[in-house]
Amino acid sequence: MTTEQIMNLALKMARLDEVPRDSQIYVHGENIKKVLLTVDADAGILWTAKNMGYDAVIAHHPAGMNAAVELYKVIEEQMETLVEHGVPINEAQSAIMKRQEEMMLRAHTSNWKHLVDFARLINMPFMNVHYPCDFMMEKLVEEHLERSISDKRNLKVSELIDILCKMPEYKNAVTKPLIVVGNPSNFVGKLCVAFAGGTNGGANVIKAYWRNGVGTVLVLHMNLSDIYELRKENLQGNLIVAGHIASDSVGLNEFARILEKNGLKVTKLGIVE
Ligand SMILES: [Fe+2]
Ligand SMILES: [Fe+2]
Repeated sequence: MTTEQIMNLALKMARLDEVPRDSQIYVHGENIKKVLLTVDADAGILWTAKNMGYDAVIAHHPAGMNAAVELYKVIEEQMETLVEHGVPINEAQSAIMKRQEEMMLRAHTSNWKHLVDFARLINMPFMNVHYPCDFMMEKLVEEHLERSISDKRNLKVSELIDILCKMPEYKNAVTKPLIVVGNPSNFVGKLCVAFAGGTNGGANVIKAYWRNGVGTVLVLHMNLSDIYELRKENLQGNLIVAGHIASDSVGLNEFARILEKNGLKVTKLGIVE
């Protein structure tokens, strides 16, 4: 299999027509049979993989070049989730703006060429698959909740967390889902799993959900300054931080299953099972 064929499997999994901006093949590879699938890559991992006879390293998080610099553009995908949950499109657009600018500025601090040059130097096939895996993580968590919640009307936040923790990735993670705004005894109300779309949308995105009828938002992570801002708002919404690596593992395990089904030997690194 080639790196391009692996990328196509990722696109097919997430029903995408083109490679999203946060995913990229950095060093092309052919005749790939054995891959190292890792949440993050660094020079040590690439070098070790090369010496241990792996044919390619597939990272989840963007590792440099365009994928890292253009991660902020993927935040636009969050607009769709906002609109689907009843937020007017103009409000959705302005809600993502601050976070998008933050991520754009952060890209300018990144050493975007370093790791990719190293992979080229040692001639190690190297790529990253971000949004397709995050799309699957969001979908699989949504499907699990849909299947497991019997009484949506009376569901409490603590019960939602118990249901979430029935998924092996959350059950086996050292970080447990945390209520950062709201209380365990609050009703969940209308729920939104806001996982995919580059990174969390920040306080403005959460406020937009709460203002438009969503009672509980589930995110991967959130900065403390955003949490403090949200606590001051008194908007009567709940915010649950599900855990970054636990959640990413949901999408990555699905991707690993697909790679294995297509004949690849996959070793996972940093993925919760
Ligand atoms: Fe992710
Ligand atoms: Fe992540």
